[in-house]
This record gives sequence, C-alpha cells and structure tokens, in this order.
Amino acid sequence: MLWLKVVVISVSVYIVVGSRDFPPGFKFGAATAAYQIEGAWNVSDKSPSVWDKHIHAHPERVIDVSNGDIACDSYNKWQRDVEIARELGLHFYRFSIAWSRLLPKGYANYISEAGKKYYNDLIDALLEKGIEPLVTLYHWDLPQSLQDLGGWTNPLVSDWFADYARVAFSLYGDRVKTWITLNEPVMYCDIAYNTAVLAPGIYSPGRGSFLCNKHSIIAHAKAWRIYDEEFRPKYNGKISLANQIAWLEPATEEDIEITDITRQFLIGMYSHPIFSKEGGWPPVIEKIIAEKSKKEGLNHSRLPPFTQEEIELVRGTYDFFGFNYYTSRTVATAKEGDKIGPWPYTGSSDIGVHLTVKPEWKSAATKWFFIYPEGLRKQLSWLKKVYGDIEIFITENGFASYDSGLDDQDRIQYYKDHLEQVLLSIKEDGVKVTGYTAWTLIDNFEWMDGYKSKFGLYQVDFEDPERKRTPRASAHYYASIIKSHSLDV
Ligand code: NOJ
Repeated sequence: MLWLKVVVISVSVYIVVGSRDFPPGFKFGAATAAYQIEGAWNVSDKSPSVWDKHIHAHPERVIDVSNGDIACDSYNKWQRDVEIARELGLHFYRFSIAWSRLLPKGYANYISEAGKKYYNDLIDALLEKGIEPLVTLYHWDLPQSLQDLGGWTNPLVSDWFADYARVAFSLYGDRVKTWITLNEPVMYCDIAYNTAVLAPGIYSPGRGSFLCNKHSIIAHAKAWRIYDEEFRPKYNGKISLANQIAWLEPATEEDIEITDITRQFLIGMYSHPIFSKEGGWPPVIEKIIAEKSKKEGLNHSRLPPFTQEEIELVRGTYDFFGFNYYTSRTVATAKEGDKIGPWPYTGSSDIGVHLTVKPEWKSAATKWFFIYPEGLRKQLSWLKKVYGDIEIFITENGFASYDSGLDDQDRIQYYKDHLEQVLLSIKEDGVKVTGYTAWTLIDNFEWMDGYKSKFGLYQVDFEDPERKRTPRASAHYYASIIKSHSLDV
C-alpha cells in the first residue's frame, strides 16, 4: 500500500501549496463610475451634479484643468464598453447610475425617459453577453438641486436617497442582482468636508463631515430595508455598501493603541453601525468627540448621535462587506511640527495622528498611492476578526500610472501581487472572499488627477473624438486569469 500513500500525499501537497486556483464560483469583474466615464453632462434632461458644478466653478483644482463633460463618452460609446467587458471575459461589470441622469429633479416623482433607457440598454446588453451588471447607486454625484438644500448634511437626504433607490430597484431589480448603495463615504464626507477639494467644495471639518457620515449611513440603511422588504422576495439579490479602506499599521510598538483608534475613525465609522453586533458609532469615537466638543465649549457633541431607533434601523443592513483596497499607511501619534495626515481624515485631525509609509512601499503615480499587497490580506483578516465570518467582496483594486503606454508590466505586477494575497487570505486565513473587481475597465476621469493618472486595463485616447479604447498588456493578463480561474496562467 505504500504507493497509495505516496499518491495521496502528493495529491494533498498539490492542493495545499501547488494550487493557485480560485474557488469555484469566485467572481471577477471590473468597475467604473458615471461621472468618470459617461460625459454627456447636460444631454436630454439630465441636470448638473455636484461634480459638474464643482469642476466648472474651480477648473484649476484638477491637475490638468480637465473635467468630466465628455470623459470617455460612454453615454454614446457604451456598446464598446460592453464589448470590452466581453473581451476580458468578466463575470460582472460594476458601473454606477448618475442620480441626476435618472432623476433630473433629484426627487423620485420625475423619471427621465432618456436616463431610464440608457441604463436599461446597458444592463440588457451586458446580460446578452452573459455579464452580470453590478450597480452602484451613488458614486459621489449628488444632484446639485439637492446640494442646494444642504446635500448630505440635511437629514432629509436619507429619504431622497431611499426614494431614488426604490426607483432604481423597480426599474432594474428584475435584472440587477447585486447592488452597492454608496461608494466610499469616507471620500465624499471626510475628505470632501475636511478639505473642500472634492465636491461639493464645502469646508466644514469635523462638522459637515460627521453630518454627512451619519446621514449616509441612514440613507444606506433605508435603501437596504426597502430592498429587503419590497424587492428581495421577488428578485433575491444582494445589497451592501463599498468602503475604501487603507490598511493601517503601527509605526512603532508604542503606536498600537493609536492605530486601533485610527482604524475606528477610518473603518469603524462606516462599519460599526452596520456590521457590529451592538450597532451605533464606535464607542471610542463617541467618547473622543464628546470630550473634544466639551473642551471646545460646546454643549453638544460634534458627532451627531444616533437615536436607539436609528441604531436598530441601521444594524445588520448588509448582505456582504464591500471593500475597495489600494494602499496602506503607518500610524503614529503626531509630534510637534508633524504634518497631520497626509490624508486629512476627520480622525487624523481630531486625534492628531501622523500617517506615513514604509520606505519599502513603492509609490505609484498620484501622491497618495504606495504599494503594499500584504496590506490587503492583513485588512481582510482584520475585517473577519472584528465583524465576524461574513462574506467579503473586493469592490475595487487597481494600479495608477502616469505612463499611458500599452505594455504596462507594473500594472500586471500589481494585480498579480494583490491577487496572490487574496488567494492566501481565502486558503490560509479562511476569509470568505467571493469576488474581485479591477479598477478600472478603461482610463477615465480620475477626479483631481484629471486624465493624467491612468488606471485602465484599456487605454483611452482622449485626443481622439471617438475616444478609441485599446487593450493594455494587463487586459490580456487579467483575461487569462479569468479564463483559467487561476493565477497559474
Ligand atoms: C476609488 C474610487 O471609488 C474611484 O472613483 C477612484 O477612481 C479610484 N478609487 C482610484 O482613485
């Protein structure tokens, strides 16, 4: 029987260390967002969003003084985008609906026929090619008419959003089975209100940002409950939000506690109310902001409290954890003269932390991007440890370069290294990661970096009125991973 043992041993060794296959059913996709690709900012009855208004008012704030007026012209070239998704062999394509294209008045009592048709056609074409549509309801482009009423700082925004979500579920829920309510509230709340650089361009640190946080969480919860009660019984889909998370590591042993607190500001703020068993704000944040507010002479906390009813409304409103990962930081308590940040999260200014990077983390194009693939695996384990053994879906991951060339070996390396960490996380750490989304399908408008920083699997020629799309080497690489369902390609 010795020969049998040898065979059994070699088979199991192969399974444990040799196999670089992704689990059956694991899904691969790519993502985009409306303002970054669609263009057609004022066609038919579409009304301006906060990004249209913000960039038109402050063109100089974008590195190359560009905007999303035309972008990739995906409003007209969407068939080519679907074709690209097919060429890549994607299981799903994640795109966002522009709220002010579908509901030009912001409110749900007027639906644009042109807007409705645009997304209907896109969804149908994807399904025809066997590609699942994965739809984000909000990727930062609030209708300006609602911003004029206070936008995310007005508590009523959660009802405006819930109504919008119901329209989208009714129109497309028969065909869209995975929904993301909000993309990266940390960006349009914390970064936006703490710097005024991102739309809506309002500076209200530790105030506007906290209001935006709270109302976003409630908006998400209301949309989730509407889906759960009115649509899930018929359509049986899944819905959650997508958080952007940078892995945070203590700079020294003495910084372990401050790192934990910073993680609560960066991650807990948007996750604890939804994913923790007890719900509500992370207690440590509540305490810190209440004490600070008192010292500032206020009789209330700058962090707007949740009522018990709101805590119950929000708690448990998820079907998976959506997670965008790009980069990592080390955390230390700021000393005199230290720059607070460089990411001015509410947390970094309210608790005075100094965020840096390790010298061995190579930088990519754009000033915030440092590469640390292991950070992805560490973050996945952290999420499992803190929120339990829940399904995690990687809703974005990708690489920025200033080089517009087609032979993008650096991007291939980035995808390879990060997907390796995903595999390790699944196989060694037992984390339930069920999908991976490459950011991004095609080069597009990268917010304040304009068209300078490129994330695309496909290059877009922005000089060409046709906005010609051409595959990069990374597109072929990603397609071969999807085809073999393995990192062994
Ligand atoms: C996350 C955002 O969701 C997306 O809009 C952006 O382009 C990428 N990060 C890259 O910065």
